[in-house]
Amino acid sequence: MARLTTVFLFLSLLLSSAAAADAAADTCSPPSDDPSRLSVIPIYSKCSPFPPPPPAVATSSLLDTVNHLAAKDPARLTSLISASAAAVAPIAPGQHLLNTANYVVRVKLGSPAQTFAMVLDTSSDASFVPCSPCSGCSSSSSAAAAAFSPNASSTFGSLDCSVAQCSQVRGGSSCPATGPEPATCLFNQSYGGDSSLSAALVTDSLTLGNDVVPGFAFGCVRSVSGGSIPPQGLLGLGRGPLSLLSQTGPLYSGVFSYCLPSFRSYYFSGSLKLGPVGQPKSIRTTPLLKNPHRPSLYYVNLTGISVGRVRVPVDPKSLAFDPSTGAGTVIDSGTVITRFVEPVYAAIRDEFRKQVKGPFSSLGAFDTCFGEAAEAPAITLRFEGLNLTLPMENSLIHSSSGTVACLSMAAAPNNVNSVLNVIANLQQQNLRILFDVKNSVVGIARELCN
Ligand SMILES: *[C@@H]1O[C@H](CO)[C@@H](O)[C@H](O)[C@H]1NC(C)=O
Ligand SMILES: *[C@@H]1O[C@H](CO)[C@@H](O)[C@H](O)[C@H]1NC(C)=O
Ligand SMILES: *[C@@H]1O[C@H](CO)[C@@H](O)[C@H](O)[C@H]1NC(C)=O
Ligand SMILES: *[C@@H]1O[C@H](CO)[C@@H](O)[C@H](O)[C@H]1NC(C)=O
Repeated sequence: MARLTTVFLFLSLLLSSAAAADAAADTCSPPSDDPSRLSVIPIYSKCSPFPPPPPAVATSSLLDTVNHLAAKDPARLTSLISASAAAVAPIAPGQHLLNTANYVVRVKLGSPAQTFAMVLDTSSDASFVPCSPCSGCSSSSSAAAAAFSPNASSTFGSLDCSVAQCSQVRGGSSCPATGPEPATCLFNQSYGGDSSLSAALVTDSLTLGNDVVPGFAFGCVRSVSGGSIPPQGLLGLGRGPLSLLSQTGPLYSGVFSYCLPSFRSYYFSGSLKLGPVGQPKSIRTTPLLKNPHRPSLYYVNLTGISVGRVRVPVDPKSLAFDPSTGAGTVIDSGTVITRFVEPVYAAIRDEFRKQVKGPFSSLGAFDTCFGEAAEAPAITLRFEGLNLTLPMENSLIHSSSGTVACLSMAAAPNNVNSVLNVIANLQQQNLRILFDVKNSVVGIARELCN
């Protein structure tokens, strides 16, 4: 890391005056020209408070890093499919590796404010943060460990079982009363498919850039198990009742957008922009669909996929939105590589292989790797009203040796529940994705955000 920093400083000095270099070196601070824009930081970047990846990952290629991160995708998909606040895995002691997805934003809680790098998650509603003391949260030796001190905040409050938010966070299940006084609202929640947390529902001031949200309800985590619980908490950007959007009402009018920087961008951050002000004015959109059984998820209408000029033959049923089964396509910030249901992925892969010079091999999650010199066709996702031709860096991933490239998508885990296609963050890099719940649209525009 020291070597990279030196190289970076050297380049900065070469490219600009000393003053400008100082500014460039501090790309971790929020952009000062627009305080309502929050930095979105890749978890393994210089600006991330989390420890560097395991040495095997740190010295390996982007392809290996993505494979490492994507190893959690199948568990996440399974949990998205079964998405419901009531789904709970048992709390058991677990390991505490940093296996959490992918991008974090800095937010502040309490008065005076305590800062956390929370994972941005568009498929979760309730936000949460580890509270002190927290059993099983990241070990205290780690720089990434940060717990919220309720005692140190003058605006902290707890919520009891009688409030509507309590039944929401408990997935409708009742909250046992233990005495004459109303009981604190406690809940358990599973996360990432293999982890769970136990928390109290509390309120405090949430500060996002220049905005303060008083009385924001979130989970104060007292115990965790499994390796997927974000060590500094999670910001729930889903569309269900306890999400940031739902709790902020007119402040953000149900609108936000983000631009995720490339996994490759060690030094730079993307941005999260909350509310309708300052969003791109002309942006192509596709309808946002609502599934009452999975109220957190952002469904879109994917109607087809093209490889080069060829429209891939797929049974429209494999893509159709069906609120009763949960079938359809979602846009998710927490899955790493885009997953299609098996028959759809097989059709894409077969057409791709027809147009590229083989032979083909597999590397980790990817089954279509080939000599990098071969020409590859672009992939177009056809949404209702919007064709998105993916930039090459969003559909191909390269090995460190520079000799192999892989089609950077995969089939969804093939089990009885596999009805969901997920547009994941590798395919969203350097695009601005606008979620407008009020007007029921998703907008997509090219934007270089790293
Ligand atoms: C917070 O305050 C309560 C009551 O004053 C006390 O019992 C508890 O030990 C304190 N917790 C911490 C972590 O300081
Ligand atoms: C959460 O799970 C733990 C362990 O399974 C259990 O003891 C506790 O009662 C649960 N809490 C709630 C609120 O369901
Ligand atoms: C998806 O788009 C297709 C093509 O425009 C349309 O026929 C279909 O009704 C749409 N599905 C939904 C659920 O809106
Ligand atoms: C998307 O591309 C298809 C095939 O080229 C075309 O028929 C369709 O009109 C395009 N849709 C939009 C919204 O541009």
